[in-house]
Amino acid sequence: MPEANTIKNMFNNISGSYDLLNDILSLGIHRLWKKALVSEMVENSPTKVLDCATGTGDIAIMIKKSAKQAQVIGSDFSEKMLAQAQKKTTDITWQVQDVMNLTYTDQQFDNSCISYGIRNVENYEQALKEMARVTQKKICILEFGQPKFLPFKLIYFGIMKYFIPFIGKVFNKQEAYQYLIDSSMKFPCAENFCKVIQKSTGFEDVTYRSFFGGITYLYVAKKK
Ligand SMILES: C[S@@+](CC[C@H](N)C(=O)[O-])C[C@H]1O[C@@H](n2cnc3c(N)ncnc32)[C@H](O)[C@@H]1O
Repeated sequence: MPEANTIKNMFNNISGSYDLLNDILSLGIHRLWKKALVSEMVENSPTKVLDCATGTGDIAIMIKKSAKQAQVIGSDFSEKMLAQAQKKTTDITWQVQDVMNLTYTDQQFDNSCISYGIRNVENYEQALKEMARVTQKKICILEFGQPKFLPFKLIYFGIMKYFIPFIGKVFNKQEAYQYLIDSSMKFPCAENFCKVIQKSTGFEDVTYRSFFGGITYLYVAKKK
């Protein structure tokens, strides 16, 4: 796992093309998976919500649209990713924060989430612990995993081995997108990651749903 500073520099470096590349690399499908996360996040009508590792702010913006009553904070440690988010709306409070060491008070938020961020955090157990400290009710996590079934495995490995490196090369961001592939191919998923969440957060009710045969997973952790 690269150090936090290396990861921050990498995201600062790709901030300008991040949204476009996300749409190209997932053929727009990431939007559907993000919608599922947002539905979970607003389901209990929260009034205070934190989106960690918000990047260019997609999730925070979608939450605010679906839960107009809520105060939404989008935080990230990459100033340049946040600068892209800031350009999109001022309805959300954007804050520079390291998810491993949040400056918020205990239980400040009803719900918190992290979308395609946890895999990139240097110490993800510490990040989960911090998210649990500042959250009263529910934590939602969207992250890549590895598909179990053959047809999806073939699609996944094809995308990872050929399509993403090709696009990375076209945009001259090979290093960042090679890292995306390497980290996604080995990040723990499904039951294994539920155990990590349970242990790190202390939230007892942890469930998951998989999308596209296990390319992406949505984890929901609730306090009982
Ligand atoms: C792949 S992007 C995800 C952005 C957005 N949530 C999305 O779903 O498109 C990963 C984000 O994690 C952030 N990140 C990685 N480690 C972090 C940390 N320790 N604290 C805060 N943000 C972090 C990066 O700066 C980057 O913006």
